[in-house]
Amino acid sequence: MPQVNARFSVLSEDFAANPYRYFSRLREQDAIHYESAIDSYFVSRHRDVTRVLTDHETFTTEMLQVRAEPVMRGPVLAQMTGAEHTAKRKIVVRGFTGRALEEQIRAIHANAAELVAPFLSRGRIDLVNDFGRPLAIDVTLDVLGLDKKDRRRIADWLGGVAEFVTGIDLSPEQRRRCLDRAERLEAYLAPVIGERRRRPGDDLISKLCTAEFDGVAMSDREVTALVINVLVAAVEPADKTLALLFKHLIDHPEQLGQVRRNPALLPAAIAETLRYTPPVQLIPRQTERDVVLGGSTVPAGATVFCMIGAANRDPAAFASPDAFDIHRSDLGTARSFTAAARHLAFGSGLHQCVGAAFARAEIETVAGMLLSLFDNIRHTPGVRYRETGLYTRGPASLCIDFTPARTAPAPL
Ligand code: HEM
Repeated sequence: MPQVNARFSVLSEDFAANPYRYFSRLREQDAIHYESAIDSYFVSRHRDVTRVLTDHETFTTEMLQVRAEPVMRGPVLAQMTGAEHTAKRKIVVRGFTGRALEEQIRAIHANAAELVAPFLSRGRIDLVNDFGRPLAIDVTLDVLGLDKKDRRRIADWLGGVAEFVTGIDLSPEQRRRCLDRAERLEAYLAPVIGERRRRPGDDLISKLCTAEFDGVAMSDREVTALVINVLVAAVEPADKTLALLFKHLIDHPEQLGQVRRNPALLPAAIAETLRYTPPVQLIPRQTERDVVLGGSTVPAGATVFCMIGAANRDPAAFASPDAFDIHRSDLGTARSFTAAARHLAFGSGLHQCVGAAFARAEIETVAGMLLSLFDNIRHTPGVRYRETGLYTRGPASLCIDFTPARTAPAPL
């Protein structure tokens, strides 16, 4: 097992190639790892990460003013607290639950069927680049009521926003390019927001435009920031989770067979994928005061990164944590998509993901469809598997071969 010593760095190429190899040593020997190059602390134990995410007095989201607000073009949900946070979070949640969710599932099914169709006769698909990524964007554009013919441009601008938010040591030139793409996205959204104010529809942008907080409607700046917030938050982790789910099932053929025979096991497989390989690997916070955490003192004003991948593999929280096991008894499928989740893939506390139920519905719908269409799924021979990303992490591609089981998906 690789050493965690004075020269160890989470910014090294070795760590980026496979962070999972380092997690147990970090938890055991350097649970509050200080990274001097970026003056930040990396927290790896489940108990400490839970504390950081739920002790809102000590660990704030203030650094998002610098890390997110410039590209979100206004304050995002994770920056808000108190009544404002509760009210605006509720508005966003309403866009993804109840009747709205039922309609969205039909749209997800239709989008997925259209995207997969050209690949069925070929028996080969890259689940990330041919399918998962465009699907995650289309699904989110539908929810927001944005035009899917603009998918490419929006995806490009969004890439700049995501790079800025998740960048750990970006150069000034990279930051400038990200800001430029964020400004283009803002300019694209401005007339859409104006139109929804005049003629609201059923979509989330209309709901944000017409909702009131303290009797006052949100400004264009506030609506823009929440729209970009939802776009980034919904798109970034979705394709990664879908691809990781298939990767783990292909690598564990017995469990793949069980899920095929009993699709009711899919939610457990999704929950275990989120525990085993969470697509959001880092969640940042800032200390409000000097604090003793995991036996180390962290000074006031410091940046603290919660290492979700490491916390989710902490043996103090999960038995045999490095095993992928959809039947594990210490996870709990039903609670895995709620505030009571034991894994930390959706965060924890006030800012826990608002899209968890939607993400479950999205991945369950799509994975169920793909499993009914693809028989004999296997990795494409000769293609090397590679994951990328420190902050959000997932397969660069997932090329699979399959035997087509049907010519089109069954209707919902
Ligand atoms: C598997 C998919 C997903 C994962 C792993 C995920 C993960 C996360 C995590 C870790 C956070 C907490 C960030 C923090 O504490 O600072 C979060 C927050 C958030 N997520 Fe997700 N997310 C997913 C899907 C979605 C989807 C589909 C949506 C929208 C429909 C969404 C919308 C949001 C929003 C708006 C927040 C901010 C909540 C707040 O600050 O109150 N997420 N997500």
